[in-house]
Formats: sequence, C-alpha cells, structure tokens
Amino acid sequence: MKFFIDTANLDQIREAGDFGVLDGVTTNPSLMAKEGITGDKNVIQHYLDICKIVDGPVSAEVISTDYKGIIKEGEKLAKLHKNIVVKVPMIKDGIKALRYFTDKGIKTNCTLVFSAGQALLAAKAGATYVSPFIGRLDDISTNGIELIAQIRLIYDNYGYETEILAASIRHTMHIIQCAEVGADVMTGPLSAIMGLLNHPLTDIGLEKFLADHKKAAASAK
Ligand code: E4P
Repeated sequence: MKFFIDTANLDQIREAGDFGVLDGVTTNPSLMAKEGITGDKNVIQHYLDICKIVDGPVSAEVISTDYKGIIKEGEKLAKLHKNIVVKVPMIKDGIKALRYFTDKGIKTNCTLVFSAGQALLAAKAGATYVSPFIGRLDDISTNGIELIAQIRLIYDNYGYETEILAASIRHTMHIIQCAEVGADVMTGPLSAIMGLLNHPLTDIGLEKFLADHKKAAASAK
C-alpha cells in the first residue's frame, strides 16, 4: 500500500519524507487555508515547494465547479510539475473533466467520493485515483471501510486501473483496516502514520535488551 500524507504543512511533509515511507501528498482547499496559503501566486509556489520535498504524486485541487473552469485550472496546475495530480470534485462537470484530462494524459484524483456508484463513475471516466472519505462516513455512523471493500470488489470485477486512495483517515487503525481490504493508497495525517510504530511490548523489549547489555558489559569489566 502506498502512503500519502494529507496536509499542506511543509514541516510535516518533510518529516514524513525523512522517515522514509512517504510516496506522495494530498492537499485540499481547507488544508491550504489552514496553512494560510491564499492567492494564486502563493498557492502555486506552495505546490512547487511540496514537489521539491517529495518525489511522488502531489494532489492539487481545483476550485472551479463548472466544466470550462475545471479544465482551465486543471491544465494550469498540471503544467506546474510532472508530479501534480489534478484533484477534481465528484460532480457532473467533474466527471466530464476527468474524461478530458484522462484523454490528455493528465493524472487525476476524484475527490469527495462517498458511495460505490460515485467510485464506479470515476473509474469509467478514467480517474487515476478515486478518494473515498472514510472518516467523514464514520462521522455519520456509516462504515467507511466497508465502502473501500465494496469499491475494491467492483474494480477487481472489471479490472479498472483507477487506484483506490482511502482518504479522510483519522487514526492508525484506519490505515490497518484499509490495508486489510486492499486500498491501493491511503492518505492521512502524520500522527496516524507515526502511530504505526507504537507497541508497548517493543518499548519494554528494547528497554530489557539495553539493560541486559549494560549489565553484561559492566560484569565483564
Ligand atoms: C483527501 O484527499 C482529503 O484531503 C482528506 O483526506 C479529507 O479529510 P478530512 O475528512 O480529515 O478533512
């Protein structure tokens, strides 16, 4: 499974990259706003800065919701860097735009996906990635992991090449569950990724190894 980090925070992107397991980055307008990135020039510079840190797909979301606007914005974003993936919302004009981008060889990420039907449409339109939002489904008492499993089954039935990018990951367990049901990619916060490291028996075991080593070294003197 590929690991993407879901943030526009450059320090966190750097930290995840240095950790050695990062394959890509996803952003969205809310994440950009959280970092105080506003205005065309700054937004574009920020995407370029992210691309300098990570050599992998970087999702950049369009703001337009009409076909012509999505195409114009998406083409501009795609020209910024070879790793930019144009993130397009799951709406009627978004699907039309996905088809256009697919035909032009521009990589896409269909975002705000909450049902298997929407995921099927994204695959039919040739999206590179489809982003089902697990955490937001969980928030409304709907099983997000079941949706990932359903999409996996459908895509495998027909050999769709669209990659399932499990999004809106809220915690470490989500990552494990997504891996179990066969998501191709997960995008989550740094905390969820780092959480994979933790087990109390690892800490206890290491402490014991080091203490035994110290004892043996002392008695050998
Ligand atoms: C996906 O690409 C989105 O940026 C993201 O995962 C949304 O997650 P949230 O529900 O935590 O905002």
